[in-house]
Amino acid sequence: MYKQIFSILRMVPVVFFAGMISLNAQPVKPFYMNENHPLEERVKNALSLMTMEEKVAMCHAQSKFSSKGVARLGIPEVWMSDGPHGVREEILWDSWGEAKWTNDSCTAFPALTCLAATWNPEMSAIYGKAVGEEARYRKKTVLLGPGVNIYRTPMNGRNFEYMGEDPYLASRMVVPYIQELQKNGVAACVKHYALNNQELWRGHINVEVSDRALREIYLPAFKAAVTEAKVWSVMGAYNQFRGEHCCHNDLLLNKILKDEWRFDGTVITDWGGAHNTMQSAMNGLDMEMGTGTDGMTRSVSNAYDNYYLALPFLDELRKGTVPESVLNDKASRILRMIFRTEMNSKRPLGSFASPEHAQVARKVAEEGIVLLKNSGNILPLDASKLKNIAVIGENATRSLTVGGGSSNLKAKNEISPLTGLRTRYGSKITYAMGYASGPPAYGREIPSKLNAETLRNEAIVIARTADVVIFVGGLNKNHFQDCEGGDRQSYNLPFDQDQLLDEILKVNKNVVVVLATGNAVAMPWIERVPAVVQAWYLGSEAGNAIASVLSGDVNPSGKLPFTFPVKLSDNGAHSFGPLCYPGDSIKEVYMDDILVGYRWHDTKNIAPLFAFGHGLSYTNFALSNPQTDKKTYTKAETVKLTFTVQNTGKVSGAEIAQVYVTQKNAPVLRPAKELKGFKKVFLKAGEQQTITIPVKVEDIAYWDEKTGNWKVDAGEFVMNLATSAGDVKFKVPVEVK
Ligand code: BGC
Repeated sequence: MYKQIFSILRMVPVVFFAGMISLNAQPVKPFYMNENHPLEERVKNALSLMTMEEKVAMCHAQSKFSSKGVARLGIPEVWMSDGPHGVREEILWDSWGEAKWTNDSCTAFPALTCLAATWNPEMSAIYGKAVGEEARYRKKTVLLGPGVNIYRTPMNGRNFEYMGEDPYLASRMVVPYIQELQKNGVAACVKHYALNNQELWRGHINVEVSDRALREIYLPAFKAAVTEAKVWSVMGAYNQFRGEHCCHNDLLLNKILKDEWRFDGTVITDWGGAHNTMQSAMNGLDMEMGTGTDGMTRSVSNAYDNYYLALPFLDELRKGTVPESVLNDKASRILRMIFRTEMNSKRPLGSFASPEHAQVARKVAEEGIVLLKNSGNILPLDASKLKNIAVIGENATRSLTVGGGSSNLKAKNEISPLTGLRTRYGSKITYAMGYASGPPAYGREIPSKLNAETLRNEAIVIARTADVVIFVGGLNKNHFQDCEGGDRQSYNLPFDQDQLLDEILKVNKNVVVVLATGNAVAMPWIERVPAVVQAWYLGSEAGNAIASVLSGDVNPSGKLPFTFPVKLSDNGAHSFGPLCYPGDSIKEVYMDDILVGYRWHDTKNIAPLFAFGHGLSYTNFALSNPQTDKKTYTKAETVKLTFTVQNTGKVSGAEIAQVYVTQKNAPVLRPAKELKGFKKVFLKAGEQQTITIPVKVEDIAYWDEKTGNWKVDAGEFVMNLATSAGDVKFKVPVEVK
């Protein structure tokens, strides 16, 4: 008996030890999970383990903002969020309602127009990094942005989310945003590919545009996002192009994006952008989101089964009308995106609404604000010389991170212009609202209940006795303003702001107009107003950034990423009648062709109100001594334009030197000049620097419609060294052999 007990006890350590070994042994990871293997082999391996149903399930939504993983294999779901100025609050599984979480108040970064106005790719990099950290902390696989649709008309309700009118500027600014964002293991989703240049009829308008304009104007920023930044996902646009919806457009998706640019990531629809199963299957769409399923009856338990790329797609695969290779390609692209994000064990953990992110938001805001006019050097406002500052205008207090559509943000903090100015100038500030729009509303207009006359009278009273009036107006993020789902209805400022300004100017001439807009506006009062500041939508730190610039704590250094026409009919898209903009509700023909923005103004000699690339400083700069390294170049070479920039004023500041190229005697229409290089140069008072801006000869090519390829003609070109499209300082001739 004792012997038996003893021998059992003797076994205990052996069993225990053996157990320890098996507990400690590393479980063997499936091949696709082992990050030591090459990505493509892991994708193939995972794909080989999946059923057809599992692959199809990845190709469409399972909720408003997520799609299925493969639970059986431990492959995670894909979670997405808007984008592009911060991480949107959580919304409900199956509707657009707010989920009312209390941990999702984010940093609101400045709108992308402001980022573009910095003309500083380093700002894009810190912005992308910070917004990527926020998305990562919030456990997002994909951030739905950035947007790079070209600014074609000031009426587009969504211009504020994009990077302006010039394909070169937008390309240079979008690449670092994406690269730094994706270092967080979060996919960027560049949008809306392509030709979504207006909101009116966006869901169906059929855009007709020449190959040349497509290639030279509307596609380059997308191409840079794919070929240079290596973006992991792309969002199709709502509109049609040449009769096919962009979310399943053979030319845009299969031929250009995937074949020509070798995009290896996921094409995601805009929400509700798919319309047909066979086209979705065959024309390059990989993942369908947001389709409304009302009225479809095949499944009552799960509406998502009715998506074009759900059960109807499975049917076609089973029938053999769609080959399985098509499904495998889609699932591989989605797997690749998941492996790069969710299944990258080395990705950082992110951070959220941190003081560091607020600093990034402030820095970008301060660098992006554009000083449009400053006569008599009324700015900066010296606190020691001012006793009484009147701040007038609804935008001084209104939240401008709210509204606008899908880019709406629940911001942890939002410093209003009034708060920022009070922090800087204290009790010298008095405030009157002056005008009122209406409560934040997306998709409808709610007029204000406040009495316009009372508001105006209050404003005039404080304006009369002030040393200076700071008028903070502009548009807002309501429907028909800077807002998704509709275009503006007038080029003038809304809510009778022009009339209010007239009244204010009658009692006080020292008026500084600060405009919060993402779009150009008419300025019938421009001759009578000494200073105008373009202050975009600046996000969480708006008020601090505005106060820094108005006070001179920060010297403004932003420049316009789009032209301000004097009147709407001066803009190319508005020069050919309604078929050219906004279309006849079915079709729209881009008759302005390659002459978008300053290309139109310069070629047709139409003076703008403020030129593309314009922006003033509190100091002065002189450009001198421009030289190219050679006089004659082959098509494979790079022109190096060297010159000196000097800060000739009394304070530190930054100048943005711009190089525009003109082709002389071109055999085809070419714009008067096109931006091909720029550099933001920071200089202390008196300091000078010698700068070289390289311009690759191949970058001055045009799209040759005869051969369907890029072409550089031999001949004479001019390198225009400028400080805006309206201010060319030197013309340096070169020859291409
Ligand atoms: C917008 C997209 C957005 C999506 C999801 C769409 O209406 O056009 O930009 O990402 O909704 O909110």
